[in-house]
Amino acid sequence: MKTFYIETFGCQMNAHDSEKVVGSLLSQGYSRVDQWETADLILYNTCSIRDKAEQKVFHRLDQFKRNAQGKVFGVLGCVAQQEGAKIFERAPHVSLVAGSASYAKLPQMLVQLESGNRRVTGLDFDASDAFETPYTKRDNPHRAYITIIEGCDKACAYCVVPFTRGPERSRTSESILNEAGELARMGYSEIQLLGQNVNSYRDPSAAGLDFARLLRAVGEVDGIRRVRFTTSHPRDFVQDIVDAIDENPYLCNHVHLPVQSGSDRILSRMQRLYTRAEYMRRIEWMKKARRPIAISTDIIVGFPGETEEDFQQTLSLLDAVEYDSIFGFKYSKRPNTAALALEDHIPEEEKSRRLSIVFERQRAVQIRRHSELVGAVEETLVEGYNQATGQWIGRTSQNRTLNFVHPRFPRPQAAETLAGSYLEVRVTRSGPNSLAGEAIAGIQ
Ligand code: 5AD
Ligand code: SF4
Repeated sequence: MKTFYIETFGCQMNAHDSEKVVGSLLSQGYSRVDQWETADLILYNTCSIRDKAEQKVFHRLDQFKRNAQGKVFGVLGCVAQQEGAKIFERAPHVSLVAGSASYAKLPQMLVQLESGNRRVTGLDFDASDAFETPYTKRDNPHRAYITIIEGCDKACAYCVVPFTRGPERSRTSESILNEAGELARMGYSEIQLLGQNVNSYRDPSAAGLDFARLLRAVGEVDGIRRVRFTTSHPRDFVQDIVDAIDENPYLCNHVHLPVQSGSDRILSRMQRLYTRAEYMRRIEWMKKARRPIAISTDIIVGFPGETEEDFQQTLSLLDAVEYDSIFGFKYSKRPNTAALALEDHIPEEEKSRRLSIVFERQRAVQIRRHSELVGAVEETLVEGYNQATGQWIGRTSQNRTLNFVHPRFPRPQAAETLAGSYLEVRVTRSGPNSLAGEAIAGIQ
């Protein structure tokens, strides 16, 4: 029997792509191993969002070279798409280079390799059946990813994604709802809808759903108790999405709305297509909602030309919004992007300084916001048990980690009875990044 090993980097889209690749290989009779040294086929699913991620790929490929005899190496994902056949030059032991749109053709590509082809590439964006994933092998037993839209038609000046994942292609609502229904029947209770920009979803079939209507429809699938979605572009984020969340408690009250910068000048240089005021209007919609919608964001510091004053505006935006959590990044130059042509690149040390100020500012917000939750009761999906702390690991609808003790199930033997269930948990303590609590045992 042939064996394979796979390593994955990058966003949830990439993680889900790997699930599709794994499922498809298992269906071909391959078996999966945990050590690359013992595998016949080694796949590396890559990310190129920042330079560091890309450097890591070539470093790792070099390590693989040590023991390359008789093995087939494949590079998948965003670095594969970006670098294409150039990868064969930098890493001659690699014989397969394939981007995310070509995974449906993976079995054929492997046959080509077996029949003696030394080098095979899959770099087209025309695979119309890329969404149909009959063999997906999901990693998480409760939460399932569903791709609803591939690619991106925006042109943010810093971003490599339009080049690595191609133009936008939406999946039909019928295919999405079928998959959600099937997942519910298999026992999944949480769905995460995925796309580079889910808000620009347009159902290509006659039903013609937009994103808010699709969200409502997924929220009504029998057996699905939580629906999340990522990621949103503020330009395409409409009030109707907030209304949908207000209407249906099964739609999680969490929205990830990347802002990138609080300065209009920088937003314009980034080609983000919205102003700070327009972004804040969307934040207001969420703050005015009946349900308490948690908001998270992405911030880039040190974009070319970002002055101290621009940076201060990002800090003031953090104060104005009071995000529930953020991801912060130092600007990184990417091939093919418009920002390469901009002047006034910011020194690395200055970017580091700004990023640590961002994190410090946000930490204070999170400590305060979390402390306000002490005493509240939150519905919590049990994800597992942490032996080291003696606590159950839980996640709230707002996407917070809420670790808790359970008076009736204090020990790990009870894992099978609790993992995957939804419990009411009272928050008793708070930290900057998570909450701790106690399950309300009497009623469940
Ligand atoms: N440099 C730094 N951060 C970036 N991101 C995207 N491209 C870059 C880049 N060139 C960040 C953005 C995006 C998140 C996924 O990664 O904040 O929202
Ligand atoms: Fe990385 Fe972006 Fe590709 Fe996701 S889409 S793997 S974040 S480069």
